[in-house]
Amino acid sequence: MDTIDKVPQTRLLKKGAEASLFITNWHNRKAVIKVRLPKRYRPAVLDARIRSYRTIHEPQLMHEAKTAGVATPLIYLVNVPESTIIMQYIEGKQVKELLNLVSKQERYSLCVAIGESVAKLHRAGLIHGDLTTSNLIQAFDGTTYFIDFGLGEKNLELEAQGVDLHLLKRALQSTHFQFWEDCFKAVLCGYTSVLGVEFTEKIYEKILEIERRGRYVEERKQ
Ligand SMILES: Nc1ncnc2c1ncn2[C@@H]1O[C@H](COP(=O)(O)OP(=O)(O)O)[C@@H](O)[C@H]1O
Ligand SMILES: [Mg+2]
Repeated sequence: MDTIDKVPQTRLLKKGAEASLFITNWHNRKAVIKVRLPKRYRPAVLDARIRSYRTIHEPQLMHEAKTAGVATPLIYLVNVPESTIIMQYIEGKQVKELLNLVSKQERYSLCVAIGESVAKLHRAGLIHGDLTTSNLIQAFDGTTYFIDFGLGEKNLELEAQGVDLHLLKRALQSTHFQFWEDCFKAVLCGYTSVLGVEFTEKIYEKILEIERRGRYVEERKQ
């Protein structure tokens, strides 16, 4: 069995708060190593448990997403003692950048496809947990990949699904303010095509409720 020591951690892709990502070569395939480094502010035992849990949990959710019909990178290796995951590198573009580059029509189709995939996740009881356009990659073959399931969970409740979509709406508002409304409408169209009008209406109401709650909390703070 290969160990992580043999894998050259070639190029830093991203140093995040929770994990660092490196691009590497995995048996002649371009791959990404996601390393969860120890956090000194957490007690060591707790820290080890959190890192192990997330290292196991993230690939599990990615696998379940595939079963639900949503593209996620292939997992090549999970190394629990070292809190490391090696996965397929998706050649493509971050949806965050792509939305600014494509035509209105392409933007619409892309957002519909995203909505369909989110609905497929929700239908299977999966919550992504961090639905931003940086966590979506469109591969060169046109498939939209969902990445970064580190904050994901299994949950079938409307509340969790509403929060998931609310986060996506917020992400669109903050990074694509010129056309976020069209994008989010298209996301809901895609969502409707998988989960139906009735359910999507319920989710939509839920999102509004979450937003009202948010505003209420803000007002109380002031
Ligand atoms: N498998 C992958 N293939 C291609 N790019 C990736 C892959 N995983 C991550 N990335 C890129 O690295 C960025 C950070 O990775 P991510 O898993 O989202 O970590 P973080 O928790 O720091 O947000 C992503 O936004 C994406 O651009
Ligand atoms: Mg991310």
